Amino acid sequence: MAKDIGLRGIKVADTKICAIDGEKGKLIYRGYDIQELARYSSFEETVYLLLYETLPARKELEIFKETLASERQLPAGIIRHLKKRKKTANTMDVLQSVIPMLADFDIESRAGTKVSCIKTSIKLIAKMVTLVAYLDRIRKNLDIKKPDERLGHAANFLYMLTGNVPDVQTARDFDTCLVLHAEHSFNASTFAARVVASTRADMYACVGAALGALSGELHGGANTQVMKMICEIDKTDEVEEWVKARLDAGKKIMGMGHAVYKTVDPRAQILSGISERLAERTGNTKWFELSRKIENVVMVEFKKRKGKDIYPNVDFYSPSIYCMMGIGPELFTPLFAVSRIAGWCTHILEEKFAEAQPKAVLYRPEAEYIGRYCGNEGCKYVPIEEREYA
Ligand code: COA
Repeated sequence: MAKDIGLRGIKVADTKICAIDGEKGKLIYRGYDIQELARYSSFEETVYLLLYETLPARKELEIFKETLASERQLPAGIIRHLKKRKKTANTMDVLQSVIPMLADFDIESRAGTKVSCIKTSIKLIAKMVTLVAYLDRIRKNLDIKKPDERLGHAANFLYMLTGNVPDVQTARDFDTCLVLHAEHSFNASTFAARVVASTRADMYACVGAALGALSGELHGGANTQVMKMICEIDKTDEVEEWVKARLDAGKKIMGMGHAVYKTVDPRAQILSGISERLAERTGNTKWFELSRKIENVVMVEFKKRKGKDIYPNVDFYSPSIYCMMGIGPELFTPLFAVSRIAGWCTHILEEKFAEAQPKAVLYRPEAEYIGRYCGNEGCKYVPIEEREYA
């Protein structure tokens, strides 16, 4: 039997990007606590911190914001391609296939130097929001809204998506969501990106791999499943029965539990506050109230059954927030990508250019073979015409 299934607890690299203390519920980007970043920083500043390892001076931040905003436009060839995709296509599938197409328009990235890879990172982070917003509007037969360089990253996304410039508080709340989702160490999608980077593939290929990993329901797809659950339950007085039946059937409650946090996920705590305040502000309290009730019931019922605690993760309260902002569930996982692309790019850069010793090498784990075995000689190959199967 293989030990270390799923690489749990195995340290596969050194990193200077992110630290998680699963016991204490702490998340640190480049030395800064997520609570501080959520309160005081912005997505653009956080991206700068991730990419350049330090907080920017005011002027540096201004220039960085301008550069990021100037890269939002998509090549006309990509827009034509988006219009040709089936309206029923899964957004994550479209993103995963379109991202490597952007490489066609980025000749400079072929240099593969650290400078060119940072420039490509900025392009990827800037264009991801436009891709998601355009895809959504094209699918809904709406005209696309060109990026507005006067708006910040979060506000511009909401504008391109809805056609309306959001109010300051909504833009700020959405910006905080982006900060909270930007980075999370060696999670499945980031690890996928790093594995591909370790082969010296280009940045577009690495991000394509990460998008595939993020799409699964045990990772970035969990938020869509959470919304499905909330809609299915629909009424707070149905929560208890629904949760008990699901746990009794041995099924998982999406948005609850975490591979690393064994206490409250700090991101979920902040998101729960945003959801509650948004509910008060909009008067649309249904989604928050249902989420809170589900959380409480799952915690009690899980403890009764397993004798241990379970807490909401980052995917538990974000659906209620996005819903109150008028964003549909089909976009929840793509929204995760809109933010996490910052972390992916940072990790790809670290994998490719880290000065750490020992140097990063091609990932190549081993597996315990438990398949057919016919002794040292191997199984005798039987020609197809001589095989007798019942
Ligand atoms: N609902 C019900 N039971 C859960 C659960 C959940 N959300 N999360 C964990 N459990 C149970 C498991 O079934 C397992 O029970 P067992 O010991 O009887 O087999 C036990 O708790 C330990 O689970 P395990 O899957 O080993 O925990 P993990 O820490 O490795 O798993 C996740 C982490 C994220 C995979 C898991 O919590 C999960 O699937 N959550 C739902 C999906 C989700 O929200 N993903 C987004 C993560 S950010």
